Amino acid sequence: MAAKRKIRVGLIGCGLMGREFAVAAARWPALVDMQASPEIIGICDLNENLFEWYKSNFDSIKTYTTNYEDLLADKNIELIYCAVPHNLHEKFYTDIIRAGKHLLGEKPFGIDIGANERILEVVKTHPDIFVRCSSEFPFFPGGHQIQKYIAENPWGQILEVHSGLLHSSDINFEKTINWKRMIAMNGEYGCLSDLGMHAMHIPLRAGWIPNGVYASLSNIVTERPDSKGEKVPCETWDNGTITCNVEHPSDGYSFPMTLKTYRIAPGETNTWFIEIIGTKFSAKFSTKYPKTLQTMHYENGGTQEWRHTDIGHNTAYKTITGSIFEFGFTDAILQMWAAVIDEFTEPGKNMPFGCITPEETYLQHKILTAALESGKSGKAIQL
Ligand SMILES: NC(=O)c1ccc[n+]([C@@H]2O[C@H](COP(=O)([O-])OP(=O)(O)OC[C@H]3O[C@@H](n4cnc5c(N)ncnc54)[C@H](O)[C@@H]3O)[C@@H](O)[C@H]2O)c1
Repeated sequence: MAAKRKIRVGLIGCGLMGREFAVAAARWPALVDMQASPEIIGICDLNENLFEWYKSNFDSIKTYTTNYEDLLADKNIELIYCAVPHNLHEKFYTDIIRAGKHLLGEKPFGIDIGANERILEVVKTHPDIFVRCSSEFPFFPGGHQIQKYIAENPWGQILEVHSGLLHSSDINFEKTINWKRMIAMNGEYGCLSDLGMHAMHIPLRAGWIPNGVYASLSNIVTERPDSKGEKVPCETWDNGTITCNVEHPSDGYSFPMTLKTYRIAPGETNTWFIEIIGTKFSAKFSTKYPKTLQTMHYENGGTQEWRHTDIGHNTAYKTITGSIFEFGFTDAILQMWAAVIDEFTEPGKNMPFGCITPEETYLQHKILTAALESGKSGKAIQL
């Protein structure tokens, strides 16, 4: 068997998502047809306490630093995964690209639309640099099957689309505040940008771009304890529902779409869902029932029956895991990384499904900025 090409990766931000990526790199042998594999050789975080976990699990890491410029100066590093708070996206992403490193960044790809535009200017002036934004949920087999349906366009006329991410990590009012609940670090969008890219990835890729939005935003928890137990303001939006109208990109009609981003959704630990309801064919998938894809075919005069199909582990990128078994969050991260490495090593390839492009991050910001304005003014905003 030919040796796989090793892509030497630097990691900036070793927190929740940094560790998820590191574990995906360690699970790489689970992917059976990949021509290349990522190898983490340098990591950076301000919090040096995080390094011990990496040291005890990854022999490949040679550089541990609190200054990300050390990784930018390392000639051996080809690609950087940057998972840091939103207020750092603009500075870090643009420095990474200018240093000639390829980048997988995290959403929302800039704390606001201005930051995103400035990142995209640097992307445009560095066409040889590969840049993508992370989004893993569409890699669940149910999400992947829905993308295949979208390509086939079996809906008849789409009547409505609902997409969203619901979780309840903020449902405990006593939970200590962290950067994701502070406007200065998370951004004014709050839940909209924290969760919005998850809701928008498939719709944006389908070309379902709203021509206007109306948003309901709720700030449910207005104070939280800080690390000393003192109550401090909790300024960010907790829950957001965006309602919009979408022109079908090819078929000359429009349909309503809702995008839900909830940080306080009782009973939902982390539920990503997409539902497309059409006159002839409908499909629904939710990570709440990760094995089950729901579909309905309807013909005039026929019965209306939802079919529940166990879709198992039928993934975009083949793994050692048999198709009969279950799929989970860490599998989605692995599949997303397979797509990143696949597209990076074979640019222009016809991908099963790719990560978010910089242009799609801009569309996301346009929608979120309009949603923020709508939520504050109570008016619908044209895009
Ligand atoms: N794709 C997903 O499902 C998903 C899930 C959660 C978060 N995210 C995104 O990932 C990014 C990071 O979120 P997280 O949950 O991993 O946050 P986190 O707080 O767990 O990790 C961020 C890390 O960045 C480090 N950091 C802060 N300032 C730094 C600096 N100047 N230099 C180096 N390191 C620094 C922090 O010490 C921390 O360890 C955000 O953009 C967030 O929106 C994505």
